Amino acid sequence: MLEEMRQFAREAWIPVILDDSLEYVKTLLSSLKPFRILEIGTAIGYSSAIFSEYLEDGGSVDTIEIDKQRIMLARANHKMLKLEDKIHIIEGDALEVLPKLRERYDFIFIDGPKSHYIEYLPYCKRLLSEKGVMLADNVIYKGMVTGPEFVKHKQRTAVMRLREFIDTVQKDEELQSELLDIGDGLLVMRKKQDTMNCVRTEEK
Ligand SMILES: C[S@@+](CC[C@H](N)C(=O)[O-])C[C@H]1O[C@@H](n2cnc3c(N)ncnc32)[C@H](O)[C@@H]1O
Repeated sequence: MLEEMRQFAREAWIPVILDDSLEYVKTLLSSLKPFRILEIGTAIGYSSAIFSEYLEDGGSVDTIEIDKQRIMLARANHKMLKLEDKIHIIEGDALEVLPKLRERYDFIFIDGPKSHYIEYLPYCKRLLSEKGVMLADNVIYKGMVTGPEFVKHKQRTAVMRLREFIDTVQKDEELQSELLDIGDGLLVMRKKQDTMNCVRTEEK
């Protein structure tokens, strides 16, 4: 069923997580053992279905999608996989949904429109649990963000904003990050533990 979903996405030109990136995420989730997962960008529910296999008992995935047709497909897929109780699709624009979320998440997968990653960052930081991991996908964007590839006019805004996003994350004193040349580029982010200790000391 998952293989059929991947095949369908490929034929319908719907972008889903690349195999190499998926392998990395699976290894990460095996050690992280998340209870709550947040995803920005559901598409047809492929990645969320796989992520849900790594949840701790009773855990759940919240995934945000704006496209109504994709939501219908994702819901049907999750139903067929009997995952509808574990995966909650939140319909809407991520920029409007994120400020309303109140839970803390152990894993956040940012896989929506690339030019908005920078705007998602403060919300995702707030929503990330102390030991949680955030991952932004496609940050190298076919080599255009970090490499010498020529950037076409159409992609220029996304590339500039991805560069701004990476730079902001790398300069953020509360985050430790690593840019991985896996798939289309993964940016791994965690909260610095010493920052949290400082905050706790100040709170006392
Ligand atoms: C790369 S696809 C997600 C793939 C999915 N995570 C997977 O690997 O199976 C990105 C998705 O983000 C959705 N999207 C685009 N703009 C959005 C927005 N403003 N808010 C929420 N979702 C959005 C697109 O419709 C698309 O389905």
